[in-house]
Amino acid sequence: MLIEVKNLKTHFFTEEGVVRAVDGISFSLDRGEVLGIVGESGSGKSVTSLSLLRLIPDPPGRIVGGQILLESEGGVVEDLVEASEARMERVRGDRIAMIFQDPMTSLNPYLRVSEQLIEVLELHRGMGRAEARRRSVEMLQAVGIPAAASRIDDYPHQLSGGMRQRVMIAMALLCDPDLLIADEPTTALDVTIQAQILDLIAERKEALGAAVLLITHDLGVVAKMADRVAVMYAGRIVEEGPVGAIFHAARHPYTIGLSRSIPRLDDARGADLVPIPGMPPSLARLPPGCPFHPRCAHAIAACREEAPPPRVVSGEGNRKALHVVRCHVEDVAGRAP
Ligand SMILES: Nc1ncnc2c1ncn2[C@@H]1O[C@H](COP(=O)(O)OP(=O)(O)OP(=O)(O)O)[C@@H](O)[C@H]1O
Ligand SMILES: [Mg+2]
Repeated sequence: MLIEVKNLKTHFFTEEGVVRAVDGISFSLDRGEVLGIVGESGSGKSVTSLSLLRLIPDPPGRIVGGQILLESEGGVVEDLVEASEARMERVRGDRIAMIFQDPMTSLNPYLRVSEQLIEVLELHRGMGRAEARRRSVEMLQAVGIPAAASRIDDYPHQLSGGMRQRVMIAMALLCDPDLLIADEPTTALDVTIQAQILDLIAERKEALGAAVLLITHDLGVVAKMADRVAVMYAGRIVEEGPVGAIFHAARHPYTIGLSRSIPRLDDARGADLVPIPGMPPSLARLPPGCPFHPRCAHAIAACREEAPPPRVVSGEGNRKALHVVRCHVEDVAGRAP
């Protein structure tokens, strides 16, 4: 197992109270595997990815519980929750790299692309300038930047949005990370460029054998890219399973509602979309029981009282096939609203 997240909790201590942005989530990822994380805005997807990199702003945020177990080449396992800041500086970029929605989050507008890429290799790989420059040009070529040998000396603002996104991906891949976290990597881009960037991530994943945590609103993207899917609601994973099970045999009313409510890149059901009624709860004032029960057409008494424990739907004993749901109602599909 490359990374195993166990019962992770990241809370923000604000004037409105304790915001339980991530509230006890568990998942694991192997090399070469793509886990998609989906869920409405505010469900805790970005806080999850920032937690893995230990980039939660403190104050107001803190990882208050759980483990992030990362395995090294030699089979040694370390818990990133406990790791020192100096250790995390090495882990970031070197073992876990992140692609953000907005490239300017990781690109410095005042430095040429060459300076930024070379610095990463000097810092993490101890390379000399000439070698680092050669490797950076190669990486820009690998992500499809034309005339990379000269474009490398551009400033970020001289590049188009799609090209900036490619530079950021090149920067993330520069040190062959074991885990690539892509948080809404394409939402700011037009559809053609989106498809190109996703192909690029898939191609680089194959070439490097990296694991990918792919966070997106777009279920079409998940269907195309992911091996497994975790559905987040109010800081928890309410359903997780192989991509086919989540799309064709979803068990959680929220997952079913989500797939009926979100437009997809790959189909044109626009007119048939059915929004989920109501709003997600305030994470500072979660309802008792299942956090989805106030919006759920299937809720029974237990849903208002007790948080549902995980229940195995299928694939028991086989991690890659395992389909787990957190819902008290056993036969949601058979009780269509
Ligand atoms: N610095 C912060 N201070 C207080 N609350 C925060 C902070 N950062 C995030 N949160 C809260 O954590 C919750 C989860 O936010 P997060 O950014 O993870 O959502 P998300 O699922 O990534 O949403 P989106 O799809 O819009 O990107 C939100 O309710 C947000 O208000
Ligand atoms: Mg986000």
